[in-house]
Amino acid sequence: MSHLIAPSLLSANFLNLGKDIEMVNRSQADWFHLDVMDGVFVPNISFGLPVIEKIKKAATKPFDVHLMIVDPDRYVERFRKAGADIISVHAEACVHLHRSIYLIKNSGAKAGVALNPHTPVSLLADIIGDTDMVLLMSVNPGFGGQKFIENTYHKIRELKELILKKNSAALIEIDGGVDLKNAPLLVSEGADILVTGNTVFASADPEQTIRQLKNF
Ligand code: DX5
Ligand code: ZN
Repeated sequence: MSHLIAPSLLSANFLNLGKDIEMVNRSQADWFHLDVMDGVFVPNISFGLPVIEKIKKAATKPFDVHLMIVDPDRYVERFRKAGADIISVHAEACVHLHRSIYLIKNSGAKAGVALNPHTPVSLLADIIGDTDMVLLMSVNPGFGGQKFIENTYHKIRELKELILKKNSAALIEIDGGVDLKNAPLLVSEGADILVTGNTVFASADPEQTIRQLKNF
């Protein structure tokens, strides 16, 4: 499988979101990445259910919803109804991660587990077989446009090993600080999906930037 690109709307122009959604629809991007922040799990508040429901009406590609919220089980069903195709919860925010994963799967969505930069991949040893995707945070979650944390390469290699060892089909998604320089290296280490906020939306020609991120 060639790698997928998931632009994060966190860096889009909220005054004219429709235009950016159309750009992503037209582009070679594969998914929409939607960052939901509650101001508790992360020190920022972004957008939630009503906004995602509206975006869904204009978007033509799958919704990859990244929940940066405490106790996400409470909202899984509602994000699914709002249009989420993949729902990722943070391991650090779930006391019963196995239960959270099956709550997502039973809702009909694919289940992702997100790990903060400090959380070891080994935490997933007994759950990787149940997980459709692992989202490795390559910045501390909360804001777009931050600097990529280099230790992520090491974590991708470890995760890839774990996936192979446990015969898991989980995909690896990298989120935070992805740019045109590190993207090829991330994919060659084993990343399946690259989330890109700032690199796409702050560029002069976002559609062309997506093309460059997709073709190397
Ligand atoms: C950070 C979010 C990311 C963010 C990525 O908390 O999870 O999805 O929007 O943005 P960039 O690509 O600008 O680091
Ligand atoms: Zn994200």
